[in-house]
This record gives sequence, C-alpha cells and structure tokens, in this order.
Amino acid sequence: MITLEHVSKVFPGGTTAVDAVDLHVAEGEVAVLVGPSGCGKTTTLRLINRMVEPTSGRIVVDGRDASALPTHELRRGIGYVIQHTGLFPHRTIEGNIGTVPELVGWSKPAIRERAAELMELVGLPRELASRYPHQLSGGQRQRVGVARALAVDPPIMLMDEPFGAVDPIVRARLQEEFLRLQQEVRKTIVFVTHDIDEAITMGDRIAIFNVGGRLEQYASPRDLLAEPANAFVADFLGAERGLKRLALVRTSEVEAAPGPVVGAETPVEEAKDVANQAGTDWVVVVDAGRRLRGVAWLADLGGVERVGDVALQDPPLSVRAEDSLRTALDAMVTSHTGVAVRVGPEGTYEGVLTQDILTRELT
Ligand SMILES: Nc1ncnc2c1ncn2[C@@H]1O[C@H](COP(=O)(O)OP(=O)(O)OP(=O)(O)O)[C@@H](O)[C@H]1O
Ligand SMILES: [Mg+2]
Repeated sequence: MITLEHVSKVFPGGTTAVDAVDLHVAEGEVAVLVGPSGCGKTTTLRLINRMVEPTSGRIVVDGRDASALPTHELRRGIGYVIQHTGLFPHRTIEGNIGTVPELVGWSKPAIRERAAELMELVGLPRELASRYPHQLSGGQRQRVGVARALAVDPPIMLMDEPFGAVDPIVRARLQEEFLRLQQEVRKTIVFVTHDIDEAITMGDRIAIFNVGGRLEQYASPRDLLAEPANAFVADFLGAERGLKRLALVRTSEVEAAPGPVVGAETPVEEAKDVANQAGTDWVVVVDAGRRLRGVAWLADLGGVERVGDVALQDPPLSVRAEDSLRTALDAMVTSHTGVAVRVGPEGTYEGVLTQDILTRELT
C-alpha cells in the first residue's frame, strides 16, 4: 500500500532528516516508526502525504507514484493525526471532525451525521460535539484527533504520536481501543511513537530510526526482539527482551505438556505412579468432564484410598489459549507447583506449561 524506495530528505540548511530509507507497508498493516527525538519520524510521515517533498527517491502509494498525483487527490485517501493533536481551538469538536468533509464539499447534515458516527466509534459522548478542544480532557482530545483523521474513511492513516500527551493509564486504554478499532476498520496505518513498548503493542512491523534519519531495522516485533540487527536496536529495545517476547506469544501457540493428571476416583497408588513419571510431588485432579478441580500433594495422600478423599488444594493458576506466555510465566512463579495449567473455554484441563517449554520457545 505504501512503499518508500531509497527516500531522502535534506532540508534547506543541510539537515538530513531522512536518509535513504526503504520501507514497505502492506495493506491493512500497522507500521510503527520509533526512534529518538529528531530522528525523522514526523518527516517520514509527511513525505507520504507530500506535506514534505523528498530530495531523492520514490514514494508509491496504492500502486501510484505519489509525486505524479495532485496533492489534494493523494491526501483525500490519507487521514493524518497530527503530533500534539493539532485541533483547531476555535472550532467545536463537531467542527474539528468535519474539517475534511467540509473541505471536500459535504452537506451540513451529512457532516453532522458523520461526526456523530465517528464520535461513537472512538468512544466520545455525543454531548461533547458542541464543546471546544480546551473543554476536553487530554484523552478525549486525542480521540477527536483520531476521529477527524477517519472522517472521509481514508484507506491510509498517518498517526503522529496520537497518544503522546496522556498519562500511562489513559494511554493503555487508548491503545486497546485503537487495536479493537483497527480490527473493525482495517486501515493501512503508519504510526509514530518514541515509546518502544507502545510500538511493540501496536505494530505489525516496527521501523527503528536512528539520528540522522537512518532506518536501522524494519521487522515484526517478534523478529526485532529475537534478533536485533545491531547494538543501537538492542539498546533501544531495552531490558527484558525475553519477557517482551513472551508477551507476544499466546499459550495456544506452544504445545502444553500432558502433566500429571488424574480423576478424583483414581487410587492413591496409581496417582503416585503418575506423579513419579512426571517427576512431580503433586497431581492435578479433574472431574469426570475433565474440568479442573484442584491439586493433590503426594505428602497429603497417606492413609486414604482415592485421590478425591483428601481436601484438594487450589489448582495452580490457570491460563487460557489467548493469554500470553508472559502471563503463563507469572502463573508459574506464583504457583507452588511451578507450572501453569492451561484450561479450555469451559474450564477443562488442557495440560501444563512449564519453564522448559518457555525456554524452548525463546531459544
Ligand atoms: N521544516 C524543517 N526545516 C529544517 N529542518 C527541519 C524541518 N523539519 C524538521 N527538521 C529537522 O529534521 C530532523 C527530523 O525532524 P522530525 O520532526 O522528523 O523528527 P521526529 O523524529 O519527528 O522528532 P520528535 O520525536 O521530536 O517529534 C530534525 O533535526 C529537525 O530539526
Ligand atoms: Mg515528530
């Protein structure tokens, strides 16, 4: 959908803001540009909608050479969320959202209707429509910026630090909403941030820029974390790369071990064999429908016939298919058994996740 071929931008005065960048963004993908202040992220976005013209190289948007298109035509297909929201202070929220529809000649009722629809989409109460930007919270202003960029339903969105000016809690919520919204609207998005964790959360692919507008690496979050191209990238990704990777893998993507599992009616001697074979001093106990009932420690099984005859301990913390391996690790280090149990949608036992499984995944 968007291709930069060896694109450079040298501003008058000699600053190289973007240096021979190659970048390809597929349709429906979120590409995140990340890097230190002044490394050319905003300039790269503006090259795409031609608010900045390249010094050299070629930019192709939706199969067409951007330099050959009239700018108004190019920009109609590209929503732009400006850094620091850039809302017009003297226009109402509805007026701000309706900026582009108005420019392209929509009728007043159509603009009003579209604004209402978009406010609902981004989670803004309808009664804010007649307010002015200074009468909104930071998070609400960010949402208005996103709604404004979506107004004429462009296939491409350029978003320059859209959640930059809010506290971490609001930011996390906006990120979550954004990902949900993207499931729905499936835009091709170039998203700028200087927060690597935000990049990892939001991006299908991440472009790591260095000062001087050099693109150091462009890869999926998993590939970046697994194999940073150089020391700058590794440093930028920060500490706990292994944990960050685990957060990107769902438990459904690894094979759970069968684990020592028995029914409540199982004779104690048999349960001990099951535990010995698994190398544990406990067994997971399930009911007839294989739903998780609890854990029995071998030490507690003296003097009874069947496993279900003793008071079962709470089962190890369980995780579901959609949880991440990082969540599983948290369960492991919190459970006395040292494992996490994976359960199905109905709470049925699916097996255990062990630290060995995580280690194998990381290597
Ligand atoms: N119009 C301009 N004229 C001259 N230099 C410019 C212009 N716009 C940007 N620059 C310079 O180009 C470089 C890249 O700027 P850019 O705004 O793209 O950085 P950025 O990565 O978005 O930074 P930030 O994270 O602070 O927003 C900077 O050194 C900046 O000073
Ligand atoms: Mg910027």
